[in-house]
Order: sequence, then structure tokens, then C-alpha cells
Amino acid sequence: MNKFKYKTSKYRFASILQRVFSCVDMSCLHEEIKLFDVDTDQSSKYHKKFYELPEDHLFFLNFREFGVHLRNNVAVGAFHRDRDYNHFTDEVNFFVPLTKAFGSNTVWVESEEGKEDFSPMEADYGEFYMWDGANLAHGNKKNETGSTRVSFDFRVLPKSKYTTTDKKSVTQGMSFKIGEYYEEL
Ligand SMILES: [Fe+2]
Repeated sequence: MNKFKYKTSKYRFASILQRVFSCVDMSCLHEEIKLFDVDTDQSSKYHKKFYELPEDHLFFLNFREFGVHLRNNVAVGAFHRDRDYNHFTDEVNFFVPLTKAFGSNTVWVESEEGKEDFSPMEADYGEFYMWDGANLAHGNKKNETGSTRVSFDFRVLPKSKYTTTDKKSVTQGMSFKIGEYYEEL
């Protein structure tokens, strides 16, 4: 996995989200935990806020599936390789934390396929990882840092590696086709 830096003055992801959450310090979002109860009205209010973002923030509409790993939250999903869930093995994963990602609030990943020597993808806001989630085992632990992690992630597949398939994303139920799971850029 490789870590990169970007200019947060140019790509102001956190300040956009802070406005959505009406919250200055997103690492304290666990104090508003009800906001994330999936089946409550609060949740739909929170989702609605994304749709109310101005057009120039459409970027975020494409990344609605961002992750919030709340303090003391138990890991969502078992450790896995994305290929276990039908993803192409040539996909490239990007992990973009918007709060400090460290210890048990971040994603843990093995260094080489099969090694199971998991280490945390630690990063400050303004840094991101490009990594091989298709083939390296990874997952979340119970977040015992006292700090909520907010992040978004996305995957890229070189078009030369794309083949028509009927396989579906297990989590989203969409086929791995251009126009369904994939968007052609
Ligand atoms: Fe994954």
C-alpha cells in the first residue's frame, strides 16, 4: 500500500462534510450517534442533507457510501479480500480518511497476500492510500481509540482489465458492469 498527500486547501472534503454534519470536529461524531441509526428518521434527514448539497459538490454524491467508524463500534464485516465478494482482482482501492486514522479506528491490512501480518492504515487528513484490497486481506477492529473515523473510499479498474460479467456485488446487489457498479470515466 502506498500513502500520498493532497492539498486540503484545494480538495476541501472535510469542510464540505462538516457542513453536512453541522459539526466542527468529526472525530467526535459518536456524541451524536443517533444520527447514524440506520432505520430512524434521523438517518433519512442525514441522507437528505447530501442531496441538498450544491451542484458543485456533486463529487460527494458519487461518494455517498463513505464510512464512519464510531468510537466503540464493533467491526463491520469480517476480515476479507474484496475478490471474495466477486470484485475484479485488478481493481485498485483508494482509502481517504477525513479525520485522523490511527490504531483501531482505521482499516487493518496485511502486507502481502496470505501473510496475515495486519497493520493499520494510519493517515492524517490530507493523506490517502492506494492499495490492493482485492487481494490483500483487510478489515476493521472494534474502535477503542475514543475517536470516530470518517473516510470515503473508492475503487478503480483499468478499462483494459474489464471483461463483461454477470457477477454481482454482494453488498450492493449490482452487477459489475459499466453503467451499474462501474462508471466509465
Ligand atoms: Fe473490502
